[in-house]
Amino acid sequence: MALVDSFGRVITYLRVSVTDRCNMKCLYCRVGDDRLLVDNQEVLSLEEMGRLIGIFAELGIGKVRMTGGEPLLRKNLVRLIGDLTKRSDIIEVSLSTNAALLERFALALKQAGLRRVNISLDSLREDTFAHITRGGQLDVVLRGIRAAVVAGLQPVKVNMVVMRGLNDDEIPAMVDFARTWGLVLRFIETMPIGEAGQQADTRYMPATQILEKVKDYVGCDCSLTAEKKMMGNGPANYFFHTQSGTTIGIIAAKSRSFCETCNRMRLTAKGELVYCLGNTGRMDLKGPMRSGASNGELRDLIVHAVQKKPLEHMFLDTGGRNSNHAMSGLGG
Ligand code: 5AD
Repeated sequence: MALVDSFGRVITYLRVSVTDRCNMKCLYCRVGDDRLLVDNQEVLSLEEMGRLIGIFAELGIGKVRMTGGEPLLRKNLVRLIGDLTKRSDIIEVSLSTNAALLERFALALKQAGLRRVNISLDSLREDTFAHITRGGQLDVVLRGIRAAVVAGLQPVKVNMVVMRGLNDDEIPAMVDFARTWGLVLRFIETMPIGEAGQQADTRYMPATQILEKVKDYVGCDCSLTAEKKMMGNGPANYFFHTQSGTTIGIIAAKSRSFCETCNRMRLTAKGELVYCLGNTGRMDLKGPMRSGASNGELRDLIVHAVQKKPLEHMFLDTGGRNSNHAMSGLGG
């Protein structure tokens, strides 16, 4: 069975925010205080998450990404990942993390069947890193990235949200870093999601300008202009820089909307299914589940929710004001 939305898009991918807690407070993701945090009893148990993900898998969603908050803060996440990777209807489990706890968990994650990992890394300067993450420690994160590479997670992708005047001068340094460590590097345009995202978006830098800086640095390699979808199942467009062997991606939600190929739904830590980052719609699955809905009933709700997925995000029309989601509870 395939899940198809009302615009003919096949939904094959689920992002699960396993916790909205985080050990960093990145400027573009989270407001400075904790007022948006969900109460503990509102958060799904790992059993509840596993049950819902299983129903999605039966509906043909074979790819699952664990995100947060910071997913590695969730106790027993490795066990949940192990349970999921054992299922024949789940093709791939991946993880988005800030890597602060990755040194501790990389090997166990690999052994549990995790394939690959995406890591947020917005600066290679200690002070800038601490500023953007409001207190994160760069050296700890770098050790986490190394542990992921050593554990054999493949590919290790690094995401850099480019913000004018904050870290845009570090684009060359990031290219060098990715080249040296054998990582896939992705530049991300700021998105005006929630209060924090709208603030960060005042430093918006369009993909064309980001790529100009890359080209200035790596020189006129023709293959760098040959942009294409090369890997993954997401919104990034990739370049391959042959001289360095580095793959560089760009995620340009604002300047090149990729909604027509959107293949995903998002499950929040409190059990809401979010249809789109750039619109408000969502459906509560926890309520029905806790009042005794059967798997069949939950499946019908999910099928119904997919039909509500809107055609496209509204970032350009509303500057994100209609996206009342907190990115901190959705994990990208
Ligand atoms: N704009 C752009 N990217 C964002 N991310 C989180 N919030 C935003 C935002 N407002 C990115 C992070 C992380 C990924 C999961 O989502 O960089 O790597």
